[in-house]
Amino acid sequence: MPAQDSRPIQQSPPWRALEAHHKEISQQKIADFFVSDPQRFERFSLQAAELYFDYSKHLINTETLDLLLDLAEASDIQSSIAAMFSGEKINNTEQRPVLHTALRSPGNSSDAEQAVQSTLDKMQTFTEQVQNGNWTGFTGKAITDVVNIGIGGSDLGPAMVYTALSPFHASAIRCHFVSNVDPAHLQQTLADLDPASTLFIVASKTFTTLETLQNAQAARRWVLSRASETDLPRHFVAVSSNIEKAAEFGISPDNIFPMWDWVGGRYSLWSAIGLPIALGTSMETFRELLAGAHSMDEHFRHAELKENIPVLMALLSIWYANFFHAETQVILPYAQNLQLLPAFLQQLEMESLGKSVHRDGTKLELDSGSLVWGSAGTNGQHSFHQLLHQGTHLVPADFIACARSLAGETGQHQHLLANCFAQSQSLMQGKSFDEAKQELLSQGMSKEEAAALAPHKVISGNKPSSTILLQELKPKALGSLIAAYEHKVFAQSIVLDINAFDQWGVELGKVLSLDLFKAISKSGKCGDFDASTNGLINFCKQFS
Ligand code: F6P
Repeated sequence: MPAQDSRPIQQSPPWRALEAHHKEISQQKIADFFVSDPQRFERFSLQAAELYFDYSKHLINTETLDLLLDLAEASDIQSSIAAMFSGEKINNTEQRPVLHTALRSPGNSSDAEQAVQSTLDKMQTFTEQVQNGNWTGFTGKAITDVVNIGIGGSDLGPAMVYTALSPFHASAIRCHFVSNVDPAHLQQTLADLDPASTLFIVASKTFTTLETLQNAQAARRWVLSRASETDLPRHFVAVSSNIEKAAEFGISPDNIFPMWDWVGGRYSLWSAIGLPIALGTSMETFRELLAGAHSMDEHFRHAELKENIPVLMALLSIWYANFFHAETQVILPYAQNLQLLPAFLQQLEMESLGKSVHRDGTKLELDSGSLVWGSAGTNGQHSFHQLLHQGTHLVPADFIACARSLAGETGQHQHLLANCFAQSQSLMQGKSFDEAKQELLSQGMSKEEAAALAPHKVISGNKPSSTILLQELKPKALGSLIAAYEHKVFAQSIVLDINAFDQWGVELGKVLSLDLFKAISKSGKCGDFDASTNGLINFCKQFS
């Protein structure tokens, strides 16, 4: 990555100016901005790569935006974007390039692009064989069920996309996703399946992940309960960058789909990790998804900062996290088929931005990524939205909706949209004490009763949100949406000067769990650890 000004970003002139500006603008009302500026929606919305992005319901004005853009310029964001696309080793703690964009590039010139194209061809051949029934199980039956065994990036991306694209599901194949080492997950998934027509994809970049290997061994035993060792290649394929380990596990080398060091797990759904998407829909659908992501790549790479959706999304997150100290960010897809998007974005955002040092190892003295949460609307309206409206936390929201539903039922879809827009509107407008009181009086309450109840009905409003609209939830639009969030996270990391592509924090728990497993599985009382851990282990031992 290009060398930045050696001063931390929080000492830069735009940051200082934003601090002063925050004091002033935080006293103002978003709703008033719309009154004083009839062009506000046009000014603060834009359309690119299959997405319509409305960021007018934010506590920003043109001065805020200019200062945030100055901040992005001060971090030399354009050079870092160019460095990523050109394959520089921007993942500096692992000395790796970050090239998930090559996975969706139609080009065929670089080594990476050529490797990608030949893997796509392999995926295509395999997908067609399975879908047209030429790839059969050990009794000669066609495959009807595909079980993806993977976790983290080897699970969340494909599971989210497969669910999102349910109108595109192949009629002959059902996909299932098993991630948890809890044996209940695999057992419940297999309960209704037939080993003779089930295909397992063991998806693991490293092929060392405990959960995946445990589940893969259990799946192997399940198939072997009905079939023999020589039948296994018809039922197991793998996706991995560790070909040796996958082969050691017993996957036939012909059945291993490669991926590469330069693809991070949480950015890998575009690689052969997306195989269940292709098998569960079609290769054409998968290629459309890639094309949508590629159009967002082009937008991110070439659009001016002030018209760059991922850059604007990143700057807004920095604005609320660092100047308003908003700790969380809620993702509200008003599309049932996007129900897994919040979980996918949790990994993308929190594994990427959950860091406390800068790229050079010095301490981060500002707020990094937010805690990401959410669920599909309208369900959340009947549970946690109460806190968004009347709680004391400031929670910036991302609403995501589709102008048209592929499920038909136009009237019902219009209710969905009406609820989506009503939520962002009410978060912004709120309800004052006088409005609440007046409402109660008009319902026939006495002055005293109305005055007593009104404070409970006050909604402070002034809560910021973005709305991202897709025309329809089709593969191309979905590809653009996911890529927009990927680049948003990267843009945020550039300004904060942190490495968004490593995840060292997850390692300690993995290492400790090995010692704990030894202690739990050996006989006798455990006294090896702190008193709490010993006590918990010894309680379980009574029942094992
Ligand atoms: O433990 C975290 C992690 O490394 C994620 O970053 C990754 O997506 C997941 O585990 C699964 O890793 P693998 O694909 O190597 O099994």
